[in-house]
Amino acid sequence: MGIARVGVVGCGQMGAGIVEISAKAGYEVVAREVNEELLDRGLGRIQKSLSKAVSRGKLEEAEKEAILSRITGTTELAGLSDCDLVIEAVPEDKELKMALFAELDGLVKPEAIFCTNTSSLVVTELAMSTKRVDRFACLHFFNPVPVMKLVEVVRTILTSDETFDAIFDFAKKVGKTPIAAKDNSGFIVNRLLIPYLLDAIRCYEQGLGSREDIDTGMKLGCGHPMGPLELCDFIGLDTMYFVAEVMFDEYREPRFAPPGLLKRMVKAGQLGRKTGKGFYDYS
Ligand code: CAA
Repeated sequence: MGIARVGVVGCGQMGAGIVEISAKAGYEVVAREVNEELLDRGLGRIQKSLSKAVSRGKLEEAEKEAILSRITGTTELAGLSDCDLVIEAVPEDKELKMALFAELDGLVKPEAIFCTNTSSLVVTELAMSTKRVDRFACLHFFNPVPVMKLVEVVRTILTSDETFDAIFDFAKKVGKTPIAAKDNSGFIVNRLLIPYLLDAIRCYEQGLGSREDIDTGMKLGCGHPMGPLELCDFIGLDTMYFVAEVMFDEYREPRFAPPGLLKRMVKAGQLGRKTGKGFYDYS
């Protein structure tokens, strides 16, 4: 199961990061977006990130050019047909992901491995939208992908040992530290992180402290790089809400239930950094 050519479906924040680190590790990468505008934006994101690395002295200009030369953009799913590994990084929408995998299954060579980057959906259910259930798993990267060292490697009860070993090795080759996690909603990290973040929102909702004091408390008291409310804004409140709903549905425990304030902020379009307003104002 040699991996030389990697396809990434979705070139948003997560997808662009996965394209960047894969190309940096020497893989040929095909990035797919739904239209030229989104593709240009995604590839622009990668250019900017690499240029920043050059300006900070972390990368040579020639290396940057070599990395970019290994990346091809496409708006066609068929452009991924000869990839050895296809990683999906589209929005957290089960129907969208299942339809996408079903279509990819008919287009991409049968021996290729499919991975989802879902953070909460049941991987087994996504696998069932394809006929390659033994070559289907999850590589869960963290935001910002070029910086965060962890990848959760999630196998389903149908994933073959060969597939698991191949993607575990891939995660190492792209410079990450892989950990093995079971196909439970939220895997290991979100299973622990999401209830904590939701509880921080409840603390704020109940007036336990100001948003600044809650964040400063966890940053200085526990050594976290970001406070919980700041981190919610960074992840995106719509993503937080969606993930909490999925996890609540799976575990039926109140600690996973999205707080009323989170729901209202999402309804009001206050989604965090990406919309310029969440718990903090970024305008
Ligand atoms: N791409 C590439 N590099 C980046 C970057 C990005 N998007 N953002 C920051 N960096 C780099 C900077 O260039 C800088 O590098 P050097 O130190 O080598 O110069 C380094 O990261 C630190 O960046 P900054 O000095 O700008 O800012 P910072 O020290 O505040 O760090 C941060 C920023 C890395 C985002 C840090 O605040 C952090 O680790 N925050 C927590 C992030 C986190 O918890 N992520 C997980 C979210 S949960 C998730 O993703 C899973 C899910 O399913 C919901």
